[in-house]
Amino acid sequence: MAKVVTLAHYYTHPEIQQMADKVGDSLELSLYAKECGADVIVFAGVRFMAETAKILNPGAKVILPDSGSTCSLVTQTDVVALKKWREEHPDYVHVSYINSSAEHKALSDWICTSRNVDDLIASIYAEGKKVIFSPDRNMGAYLNFQYGYDMPLWSAVCEVHDKFNQAALDEAFAAVSTAKYLIAHPESPLPVLQQADYVGSTSGMLNWIKTFDKEPDATIFVATEDGILYNMHQARPDLNIQQAPIYAGCQCNSCPYMKMNTIAAVERAQRGEGGIEIDYLTPELMDAARLPIERMLDFSK
Ligand code: 13P
Ligand code: SF4
Repeated sequence: MAKVVTLAHYYTHPEIQQMADKVGDSLELSLYAKECGADVIVFAGVRFMAETAKILNPGAKVILPDSGSTCSLVTQTDVVALKKWREEHPDYVHVSYINSSAEHKALSDWICTSRNVDDLIASIYAEGKKVIFSPDRNMGAYLNFQYGYDMPLWSAVCEVHDKFNQAALDEAFAAVSTAKYLIAHPESPLPVLQQADYVGSTSGMLNWIKTFDKEPDATIFVATEDGILYNMHQARPDLNIQQAPIYAGCQCNSCPYMKMNTIAAVERAQRGEGGIEIDYLTPELMDAARLPIERMLDFSK
């Protein structure tokens, strides 16, 4: 019988996470997809994640439950324009965020995730090389600010994280009389990240919450998609954890593409009766995209 493995990103609905064999951030799910020995991978995430799973495990049949599950960092990036931009910087190393199409990855020297981007770019600079960074402008701006780089940046954003707003945060902070903290995903705008006590991947933020040992009555604002609030509340029911506001009083910021993974769609995909199979990437494209991903996986070992 075929071995069917279901993967879910932290941003999917709690009931989808409960249906999964593995829940994680982009890096963990990529590694798992490569090594899980599945015949069929049902990827409850978004398309670039399912494509990465197929590239790393080409022998498996990979199914995305809803063909509409894209990502604004992918749809805002014209690959023809990206190729021209890359050619305009021949002396640079091109580091691309994993939230990118297979064609985009094939134009990259390195792939990174929000978990390893800081260390990976630092190691390239340590070799005396220069870096161009794509596609996430907010993440690139944060790295330039944090480490004093001057990386030329591509200009796409996550339509979810880009909504977090410093003025709304200031108001929310002012309304809290106890200790307050902010943790944020690096796809958020720079003014929000500059205020954060911790900036990191979905798993990184979850670990920060799990090990929080400061004021027990503190309010912790989280600038990321609302799906992971479920994992945070489960891990630390004793803490007051809230999603950061996107405008005064509004704490609801969901990724529409992650939320397309409904129970019905995932069940259909598990039965082999629905979703879209990632069977359209040519072997040449997969080979070219695999190189910078494998380079990252080796670096992260
Ligand atoms: P992570 O790699 O931190 O899981 O993030 C993926 C993502 O899509 C964030 O919006
Ligand atoms: Fe893409 Fe943003 Fe959704 Fe993550 S939250 S999948 S970056 S649109």
